Amino acid sequence: MAVLSSVVLSQIERHAPFGGVVPEIAARAHVETIEAIVAGALAQARVGAVDLDGVAATAGPGLVGGVMVGLSFGKAMALALGKPLIAVNHLEGHAVSARLAGDAAYPFLLLLVSGGHCQLLEVAGIGACRRLGSTIDDAAGEAFDKIGGALGLAYPAGPALERLADGGDADRFPLPRALLGRAGCDFSFSGLKTAAARIAAGLTGPADRRDLAAAAQAAIARQLAERTGRAMELYADRHDRDDLRLVVAGGVAANGAVRAALQDLARMRGFAFAAPPLAYCTDNGAMIALAGAERLAAGLTDTLDAVARPRWPLDEDAALRAPTHLAGRKGAKA
Ligand code: KG4
Ligand code: ZN
Repeated sequence: MAVLSSVVLSQIERHAPFGGVVPEIAARAHVETIEAIVAGALAQARVGAVDLDGVAATAGPGLVGGVMVGLSFGKAMALALGKPLIAVNHLEGHAVSARLAGDAAYPFLLLLVSGGHCQLLEVAGIGACRRLGSTIDDAAGEAFDKIGGALGLAYPAGPALERLADGGDADRFPLPRALLGRAGCDFSFSGLKTAAARIAAGLTGPADRRDLAAAAQAAIARQLAERTGRAMELYADRHDRDDLRLVVAGGVAANGAVRAALQDLARMRGFAFAAPPLAYCTDNGAMIALAGAERLAAGLTDTLDAVARPRWPLDEDAALRAPTHLAGRKGAKA
């Protein structure tokens, strides 16, 4: 399997004046750009639409306006071309993204860390994920974004926070260590986020900001590694030595400190380690195409009745048994 083209268009500039993503702007931007993006992807790949084996489109989870645009466009293409449609879960795209570089055979333990999600999953194959843990409040990317915002960095602040943290003293500001040593594989970032934002409000000099960025990044990386270590124990109990693999994916997997912490952990526990190339950590179409291709090969196609889903857990059974998304304000955000 090879990536023939990967066209990514960021809408961040359109949302920047509002300090976050505005759903109406996102939906409109999708309508305005999707045709050119698909045409560009086909042209760069030097293939015609008729050469496709199938059409994969994200069907959720996410802001439903944008998801509906992409899914409707995919359905229209599939119908017009007479090709199968594959409605892909965005999270499944992240789950397979390390396989774009070819080095994450099934099964593997997955840490999925993005702006909206923070989960540990056992991935047995395409469409076969079992959730071991997830955040009880915010996602790791959200913590990066909010703490970065408090430090005056533009949204999404993760990459800028990583640059700011460079050379900072991570030990200068003590930050809370949520759930440390606690049983299970869940995460919690809201206390850390609030504590860091409070410290940020009282800071003045550039060295202070650098040290706080370094402390926050280290605290996030530490929690991710600690909770992943617990999931490794559960995973190792159920798998042969040959199958001990840790994969990290999602936007936050682009962070060097996070990668390094997980790589060290994997080495200590005898796990192989894989992460997607940086370009495939943050959202991209190539990972959705790969999830679609793997589903197509497994005969998992969808009908034109497929619906756009604002929420769509990868492990639906676990989500029903132990919902992190309760109705209204009671549920975790991620
Ligand atoms: O996977 P993604 O592109 O979108 C979602 O599905 O959420 O992840 C975006 C998230 C944002 O919160 C962004 O700040 C974070 O990933 N991120 C980073 C880095 N690059 C992206 N966080 C920390 N360090 C980075 N280098
Ligand atoms: Zn994503």
